[in-house]
Amino acid sequence: MSDKTVLVIGGGGREHALAWALARSPQVGQVYVAPGNAGTAWEAGTPDPLGGAPLAPAERVRLAPDAISALAAFAHDHAVDVTVVGPEGPLAAGIADTFRREALAIFGPSQQAARIESSKAFARNFMARHGIPSPAFAAFTEREEAIAFVHEQGGPQVVKASGLAAGKGVIVCDDADEAEAAIERIMGVREFGEAGDTVVIEERLSGREASLLAFSDGENVVPMLPTRDHKRAYDGGLGPNTGGMGAYAPTLDLTQDDIGMLTETVLKPTVQGLRDDGTPYVGVLFAGLMLTDGGPRVLEFNCRFGDPETQAILPLLTTDLYPIIEACVNGELADDLVGWQRGSCAIVILASQGYPRKYPTGLPIDGLDELPADVIAFHAGTERTEEGRLITAGGRVLGITGPGVELSDALRKVYGAIEHVSFQGMQYRRDIGVNYIS
Ligand code: AMP
Ligand code: GLY
Repeated sequence: MSDKTVLVIGGGGREHALAWALARSPQVGQVYVAPGNAGTAWEAGTPDPLGGAPLAPAERVRLAPDAISALAAFAHDHAVDVTVVGPEGPLAAGIADTFRREALAIFGPSQQAARIESSKAFARNFMARHGIPSPAFAAFTEREEAIAFVHEQGGPQVVKASGLAAGKGVIVCDDADEAEAAIERIMGVREFGEAGDTVVIEERLSGREASLLAFSDGENVVPMLPTRDHKRAYDGGLGPNTGGMGAYAPTLDLTQDDIGMLTETVLKPTVQGLRDDGTPYVGVLFAGLMLTDGGPRVLEFNCRFGDPETQAILPLLTTDLYPIIEACVNGELADDLVGWQRGSCAIVILASQGYPRKYPTGLPIDGLDELPADVIAFHAGTERTEEGRLITAGGRVLGITGPGVELSDALRKVYGAIEHVSFQGMQYRRDIGVNYIS
């Protein structure tokens, strides 16, 4: 029976993908998205762009992700069965704790468990205590001590603001002088504000990067498909870091055995460690990994679904997302709830001119009604004018997504579909899915 009501928190492409995947569920009758974007509202019976039964309706709620008490009141008033949190901000601010205190079901870790992302110093100490493969590191609250340390170490190092810095607080350095300059930016100029009260200095690793996301109910862990995103703004892995210009799943260089090994050496010990520490982890655990010659190492954990990784992963899920989330919340997660289609899926982000720096908004978007079947446009920075015209409203505007038998089929489909879409200054990478180029 389609009687479940779901609230998705966040307003990006990841949240559009979550809303869509939940609206496909035969169990779901209503999806709310707070605050959502122009893509996260549709009527009951809307056809599913990727086929199957029509979607349950989705509606936007004009509440910000950090309006925790207002969101809880909304969940009570609308008899929301489960709330799914997209971004890290509300999790780090304790939204899951507030909801649980009010007997509202929520998919996402507590504030304490979310420190796995919100404090890189906490995360590194946790990994060291629980034997999770990591680079060598040290954490400092005193600038002079950090500077002395990087000169003592010498050579390539990575300097990180410990707190949440919207993915920008990581500075990869070639030598000790660059590391000193990075410490100055974080602790002297305080470019990332209080996120830079503590710095973490790490051994600089080399290898291929991959991400492995997993569902967790606090005890059981089930991995998703491995994925890789492309963080740099321009082709060839050049230009400034962004929130992600595209992604694909699965990564073709990780075998089933590799995933089994990563589940045993990274995912399970992390969930078990958080449980042992009295801060059980319910939600998505996202491991950013470097595959080094000496084996995999954790670069970072995120306490949530990735954006745009989620948009590449969810179209390949053959089982229903709703019961997976329900099982996580109820401590009943099992392997057989999670099934994947063979094949690949790719997403290419269409960004505003100038992104990730300054960019214009309010520009009309054309061509989305001409997308071929089997392609889906996940909205990110979009809005509708009062007249109903679709316009740009952010840096990452749309993510054109398509599954295919082979990755090359998915990419051909997506890049073909992009030909139909336009807005002034639209920029995107032409090399998404080209292996190993970040
Ligand atoms: P993070 O936000 O911690 O994943 O870091 C962002 C990016 O910085 C990663 O995707 C890597 O490319 C790079 N990075 C982070 N930590 C390290 C490290 N210890 N060694 C080499 N590269 C790193
Ligand atoms: N795409 C990287 C992230 O979601 O953190």
